[in-house]
Amino acid sequence: MLKKLGGYLFKYKSLLCSLIIVMAIVAIFSGFTIGMITPIVSAIFGKSNVSKGPWILQWLFNWIEEGNRMDSLVKLAISIVLIYGIKAPFSLLLYYLSDTLEQKTISDIRVDMFGKLTTLSYRFHSKIKSGELLSKITNDTEKIRFALKRGVIDLARNLFLLLVYFGLALWASWRLFLISIVLTPMTLLIIQFIGKRVRGKFTTLRKQRAFLNTIASEMLQGIKIIKSFGMEHYELKRFEEESTNYRKNYVKSNLLKGFLPISSEFLGSFLVGVILVVGGILIFRGIITPDKFLIFLGSAVMLQQPARQINLAYGDLQHGLASMESVLEVIEAEDYIRDNGRLKLDSFEKVFTFSNVFFSYDRAEPILNGINLEITKGGTLAIVGPSGAGKTTLVNLIPRFFDPLRGKIKVDGRDIRDFTLSSLRAKIGIVTQDVILFNDSIRNNILYGRPEASADELNDALKKSNLKDFVNRLPDGLDTEIGERGGRISGGERQRIAIARVILKNPPIMILDEATSSLDAESERLVQDAMSKLLRGRTAIIIAHRLSTVRNADRIIVLENGKIIEEGDHNELLRKRGLYKRLYDLQFKVVNSQDIS
Ligand SMILES: Nc1ncnc2c1ncn2[C@@H]1O[C@H](COP(=O)(O)OP(=O)(O)O)[C@@H](O)[C@H]1O
Ligand SMILES: [Mg+2]
Repeated sequence: MLKKLGGYLFKYKSLLCSLIIVMAIVAIFSGFTIGMITPIVSAIFGKSNVSKGPWILQWLFNWIEEGNRMDSLVKLAISIVLIYGIKAPFSLLLYYLSDTLEQKTISDIRVDMFGKLTTLSYRFHSKIKSGELLSKITNDTEKIRFALKRGVIDLARNLFLLLVYFGLALWASWRLFLISIVLTPMTLLIIQFIGKRVRGKFTTLRKQRAFLNTIASEMLQGIKIIKSFGMEHYELKRFEEESTNYRKNYVKSNLLKGFLPISSEFLGSFLVGVILVVGGILIFRGIITPDKFLIFLGSAVMLQQPARQINLAYGDLQHGLASMESVLEVIEAEDYIRDNGRLKLDSFEKVFTFSNVFFSYDRAEPILNGINLEITKGGTLAIVGPSGAGKTTLVNLIPRFFDPLRGKIKVDGRDIRDFTLSSLRAKIGIVTQDVILFNDSIRNNILYGRPEASADELNDALKKSNLKDFVNRLPDGLDTEIGERGGRISGGERQRIAIARVILKNPPIMILDEATSSLDAESERLVQDAMSKLLRGRTAIIIAHRLSTVRNADRIIVLENGKIIEEGDHNELLRKRGLYKRLYDLQFKVVNSQDIS
């Protein structure tokens, strides 16, 4: 997982290199500020109390010591201001570079995931809850960002600081250094032990949060149903329960995580105590000078901060890697539908054929059971049958939203899998019962079919889809915003926008899946009319609930339990006195009684 994250990071090599250089510079300057203890002690307590100072700074110290004590004091003050002054712009640059690197990396991950989600098949999407995917895009990338910052970039910065402080401490007194070195691994062992447990906890926490998202998004989408069934209280209770679970687990996990810095802090103070005693003894015996002891102490104190953050980094990184895993599940997902075809489907000449096609969603019981079918060019094929018979499933195989389990679908004698998905889908237009529109203007929703269409073409599509009057009546016309999922306009208007959209796409094959089933009679008339204009000159596959709309089809197949049980034209099927006739009689009576009332 770390390697994958590294892969994203190492794409920015020059940025990474500059960042490392700046980190080193800032760390060295931080060391200088501690090194200034020597001239301070010298200026205030006298030269007899000090060493020669770290070699890099010796020239500076010599300069400070020239002249009388007052001169030295002033030069000392100037030097300290200068050191901080030079360090400041580098510190700023460090912020800038690390934020840039972090954001570029995260943006890549986010965009990769979004891109993959758009290419993943409909089959993949129908299996994963959208709340979970949303949580991956928002929450998980945020956690990866945090891990990248704390666990990688800050870790590197702190490692540099640690190195400098270690160097200073070692230079100041190897004896005191050794004592620290012996005591430190104890800390690390404890930290590692806790870190491992933290990772597991946070994986569960992430899943719980995603589940909360799923419940919330289901509630928002299904608010009508919830209200009509009076289930508000039930939904609230369900959400509350999960929220409580999440809260408890969150507190528990964070307590465990908080234990990391607290334990390292405690162990650190113990270390300082030991060093104070031993250091004092070393000075009393004249083994080290006071400035060196102070430098060691200074380094040891300064060391605490980066050391603590390095300890934290481990927990943060583990935490983020759990999210990385969750994101990679999408980015590296093997899709069910492979776009391996090389040929471009330019046009189709004669027929689409289904030969002995079987399909099932979960491989348990087949939803389509040996379908044999021919769709001739320019003809209209109607599919009727009871709800759940597999009609939608059957047409979903044509644009390869799903692939058959067994059997083949061919166009002009070639397996449709030999063609690229994009060229296949470019030939097919679909209008379904539940129209999907975007939260945008009417114009942009229609142009979704072909963004480069001209004004004339758009106008033509509006006419054919009977939208002209409707749009003219709107104060904002085509620029009217239709709301989330087109919620601000009626079902019939949505349906006609969908038709206009597909008219612009101008595909030779049209699939209509119960496109008028949910409309009232008046809107149905407008939609039917738009539909017949749409179908003119195209090959059509129509799934219809109302048999009146399929009467004129060239051929009708009757599907039941995933099998074609009857086929023929309207009159032939009536003569057979089978399921079609039964369905027809049933509807005919309904239509009659409606007419009377
Ligand atoms: N995405 C899916 N995953 C699992 N089962 C599904 C899915 N879509 C449909 N089904 C099931 O497949 C069967 C056929 O559904 P469908 O093709 O939509 O029927 P129809 O369009 O004839 O009403 C139904 O039993 C339905 O529950
Ligand atoms: Mg259906």
